[in-house]
Amino acid sequence: MNKAVLIIAFLVTITSNSCRDNGDQKPTLIPDSKSDYTLIVPEDFPEMEIPPNNPLTKAGVALGKRLFFDPILSADSTMSCSTCHLPSLSFTDNNAFSKGIDGKSGRRSAMSLLNLGYNKNGFFWDGRVATLEDQALVPVEDTIELHNNWDTLIEKIKQHKEYPSLFEKAFGIQSVSSIHKGLVVKAIAQFERTLVSSRDSKFDKVKRGEATFTPDELIGFDMFFDKSPEYKDAECAHCHNVPLFTTNEYFNNGITEAHDLEDFEDKGLGAITGDRFDIGKFRAPTLRNIELTAPYMHDGRFNSLEEVIEHYSSGGKYSETVSPLIRPLNLTKKEKRQLLAFLKTLTDTTFVKNPEFQAAVYN
Ligand code: HEC
Ligand code: HEC
Repeated sequence: MNKAVLIIAFLVTITSNSCRDNGDQKPTLIPDSKSDYTLIVPEDFPEMEIPPNNPLTKAGVALGKRLFFDPILSADSTMSCSTCHLPSLSFTDNNAFSKGIDGKSGRRSAMSLLNLGYNKNGFFWDGRVATLEDQALVPVEDTIELHNNWDTLIEKIKQHKEYPSLFEKAFGIQSVSSIHKGLVVKAIAQFERTLVSSRDSKFDKVKRGEATFTPDELIGFDMFFDKSPEYKDAECAHCHNVPLFTTNEYFNNGITEAHDLEDFEDKGLGAITGDRFDIGKFRAPTLRNIELTAPYMHDGRFNSLEEVIEHYSSGGKYSETVSPLIRPLNLTKKEKRQLLAFLKTLTDTTFVKNPEFQAAVYN
């Protein structure tokens, strides 16, 4: 049988003049530096596009990981990225709306960071940021998140007893004065690209012939993927397809009733593109580890998977942009249980149980 993983070595060559960063500093990466990090990914995952000016390196990933878990990132040193993106919850936080350092809530639910490196369709629920590097610029200064200031943070990092040498190892900088926010976000993005699910979920094991579904899981699987006419087609796989259990595309899945599109309090993609037919559309999230990431949807409106299934079974609510795939499925109690049983086979504990990650969390 095939090995479950394929080892991909990224051989990206960097030239010293291709590395102008957000931080408007001199060239910073080690000239001609190559990736020395081996990313282990499941064999049927698509190829991950790594930006040529930010190859994965062992020192860069280690630095990014340290920064991700370090409360130095917040103004009062009480919160880190991991406060809202907990490894034990597949990098979410159990809240409908995440609270920042001032106790203020945002209007959206924290997203899972699993398999982010494969997304080419924009980050956040509304896709407003194109790259992981640019995404990481946001939370640090967001007033309802880490509420810090990049200049202050960079000063703290420069004076830190360990960070300067870690930046030097990761990016070959010659002096402390070369540390800037462009390098901080590069390191965080490198770390985030390593958060690839390992495929130790029951679903993956069944696929490899190493486990078998229970009768309920099997029927749920059939409904999810519309495998046979014998069972209802629940339409799920159109938007949450293998191998990532998301297509990373944007849809209105009918959770909000609106007779006029302007009534959407959160317009989602529509607010970004300015196209009224994008109003009410959000990025379909991955269903890998879905058992761990309650509450559900961009505003955490559903507390359980039972409620989510109830929503899809009912056919959702009216608004002009709802996808035609959202229609009453009229699932019986038994069918709901079967679909739920299948969803629970998508749990992968690679990061959840990683003791090193657990120890790193600061709350
Ligand atoms: C106060 C809680 C909070 C903190 C702290 C926080 N995040 Fe988030 N994160 C969120 C929320 C909420 C969203 C979704 C926001 C939206 O869509 O508007 C999100 C979205 C993201 C996404 C987008 C994921 C996707 O699939 O598009 C990434 C990546 C991310 N955060 C990384 C980070 C990093 C890196 C840090 C630290 C620098 C961080 N977050 C700090 C709450 C937080
Ligand atoms: C038309 C595309 C589409 C179909 C069909 C669809 N979904 Fe979704 N799904 C989405 C979108 C978009 C979201 C996020 C919506 C939001 O937050 O506003 C979502 C969210 C979810 C969530 C919450 C994820 C999270 O992290 O909060 C679950 C669970 C889910 N869907 C399961 C299913 C199941 C099970 C089916 C089949 C019964 C299904 N979906 C069918 C597009 C779809």
